[in-house]
Amino acid sequence: MLTGLTGLPIATTREQLRAELAAAPARTAVVMTMGAMHEGHASLLRAARACADFVIATVYLNPLQFGVGEDLDRYPRTLDADVEVCRHEGVDVVFAPTEEDMYPDGGPQVTVDPGPLGDVLEGASRPGHFAGVLTVVSKLLHLTGLPAATYFGEKDWQQLVLVRRMVTDLELGTDIRGVPIARDDDGLALSSRNRYLDLADRQAATVLSRALAAGRAAQDRGAEAVLSAAHNVMLTERRATLDYLHLAAPDLGPVPEDGGEARLLIAARVGPTRLIDNAPILLGP
Ligand code: PAJ
Repeated sequence: MLTGLTGLPIATTREQLRAELAAAPARTAVVMTMGAMHEGHASLLRAARACADFVIATVYLNPLQFGVGEDLDRYPRTLDADVEVCRHEGVDVVFAPTEEDMYPDGGPQVTVDPGPLGDVLEGASRPGHFAGVLTVVSKLLHLTGLPAATYFGEKDWQQLVLVRRMVTDLELGTDIRGVPIARDDDGLALSSRNRYLDLADRQAATVLSRALAAGRAAQDRGAEAVLSAAHNVMLTERRATLDYLHLAAPDLGPVPEDGGEARLLIAARVGPTRLIDNAPILLGP
């Protein structure tokens, strides 16, 4: 067992984690991350700390959820700083397993099939991504002893919907809690990938949240108005290439026809960096 400079236990093997869990009080909560922590991750840790007796943070850069040509190789690895964030937020143990500990017999042969929702939106642009996410989430849920609650950010809305569905369909028995999106002052949703943006792209990247805000401002006028308002804002930024702009019910089913709650989701490439964002919409009748 490693102990961070700050005294926070860091389990790097499943045996070490098991020993920590054996001494843990009853109500545990887990926050799963790939590291490169920022205020968005910290807000999840705080939400977990507020509701649980024992908070476990996992830091594991999951190769399964990265496609060929994606940014796995250059994804920021900042474990010391991540441990410091965890200590600051009152985490009880950090689980930072190695690849070998996650897969002692080599990579998985059995994976979780996300079903049809895994092929749309993010899944259409990133084939196999959600099978990789759900497989690792399922493994981490079991390795952390099926916690009472597990916290996910609304930033990755489709991920949150799919994890909820997996937990229901496979009876995994943990309460999935969504946490609102943490943003910079200018509206940009915080993301580990924002570190890739140069100055010009960083400014251009605000177009995603501006498009969502324009869509939201049109919500009383119905779905078409929301989409066209958001789309018009996207057209104003030449550095951004729209991947998708989609309005759906909160569970990603069809938009409610007679108004009500919906979710506006967007993905765009700004320079070389792919960004996602989303916002709640209350459609007028
Ligand atoms: P990662 O991108 O590190 O995100 C970890 C958690 O932080 C996710 O639940 C994500 O939605 C949340 N998060 C990220 N940015 C946020 C923001 N600006 N506001 C609120 N929450 C935010 O998502 C993953 O890792 C992985 O797919 C994982 C679930 C760990 C499986 O590998």
